Amino acid sequence: MAWTKEMPARPVVAVAGATGAVGREFLRVLHDLDFPASEVRALASARSAGKKLAFDGCGDVPAGDLVVQEMTPESFEGVDIALFSAGSDVSKAMREAVVAAGAVMIDNSSAFRMDEDVPLVVPEVNPGDVSWHSGVIANPNCSTIQMVAALKPLYDLSRITRVVVSTYQAASGAGAPAMRELYDQTREFLDGAPDDELTVKAFQHRIAFNCIPHIDKFLEDDSTKEEWKMVVETKKIMGDEDIKVAATCVRVPVLRCHGESINVEFADEVTVEAARAALEAAPGITVMDDPASNVYPMPGLLAGTDGAYVGRLRRDPSVEHGLAFWNVADQIRKGAALNAVQIAQLLLPRA
Ligand SMILES: NC(=O)c1ccc[n+]([C@@H]2O[C@H](COP(=O)([O-])OP(=O)(O)OC[C@H]3O[C@@H](n4cnc5c(N)ncnc54)[C@H](OP(=O)(O)O)[C@@H]3O)[C@@H](O)[C@H]2O)c1
Repeated sequence: MAWTKEMPARPVVAVAGATGAVGREFLRVLHDLDFPASEVRALASARSAGKKLAFDGCGDVPAGDLVVQEMTPESFEGVDIALFSAGSDVSKAMREAVVAAGAVMIDNSSAFRMDEDVPLVVPEVNPGDVSWHSGVIANPNCSTIQMVAALKPLYDLSRITRVVVSTYQAASGAGAPAMRELYDQTREFLDGAPDDELTVKAFQHRIAFNCIPHIDKFLEDDSTKEEWKMVVETKKIMGDEDIKVAATCVRVPVLRCHGESINVEFADEVTVEAARAALEAAPGITVMDDPASNVYPMPGLLAGTDGAYVGRLRRDPSVEHGLAFWNVADQIRKGAALNAVQIAQLLLPRA
């Protein structure tokens, strides 16, 4: 059903999952973009009720502590925009209450991304898709967001027929506890703890000084769900069912920022120079590419930054019209909180 409710110019915003890695970033991004909120509500589980979260303020909301409230279906009364990052189960449980309250849910989980009535939006790629939502807009998977942001200006030069991507995904992609596990485990490891005494909870194996080629669960064809998400979400966001995508997703001992090695095959010839010019002109993309001076994007040095970074641009000689490059983005910002707040900006009434 088409959405008819008008968005006020000063919306009430709920941050659902405010104490988590993405939730805390939502609060920073709302401030950084000075989102014109009239109120910001911080919601999380009963475990966090009463906890105080420092907030630098945005719109009509002054800087100061936000007191976390337990998220219940009633939490959304009077809310206009609900930014969700509390996991799929919570999004599914709260969807009806959010939409019944007249709020638009912008959801970071994978609960609704492939639903036909839910737009999957990256503002630099398919901003127009927000127009057909019926109460829920999905934020794509973090690895997909930074990839399609870079693919879009290239696709505008020539149709992309095939993409081969290998990801190097940061520990924080699995949440705040996973980020703490990388710190603590690294310390334990350096203190000489043997493998069987290390605390391994967030991942299937030790992440300190290791790489784990396993993100989300394995599927019947032995790919992982994270890899499947990159395949199907890319087609939906780019609006092209024919793009072939092969993905291998790997967890690496980096705190924040995913890296991606990407090989693209075009329908027609695209020179490296034309690709570079298109990427340099693209919104949300920064080209960092000067091999002679050892300049390329690196995850360890780009934490907390906006947009996606592209470097190591070169021809892929293994196919007829091929291009290879390296892509880095802070997946908690562009891959989650920033992208979602940019979607919220698209919902604001035009001045
Ligand atoms: N981390 C990333 O890079 C990233 C990127 C894109 C998308 N996402 C997605 O965003 C979501 C959150 O990820 P995260 O990394 O921020 O996880 P996280 O750090 O573990 O945070 C989870 C948040 O959800 C809340 N929560 C959990 N169970 C709840 C319940 N039953 N009722 C209410 N609140 C509940 C937690 O509250 P308490 O503190 O009270 O437990 C916390 O605020 C996931 O769907 C994830 O797939 C994450």
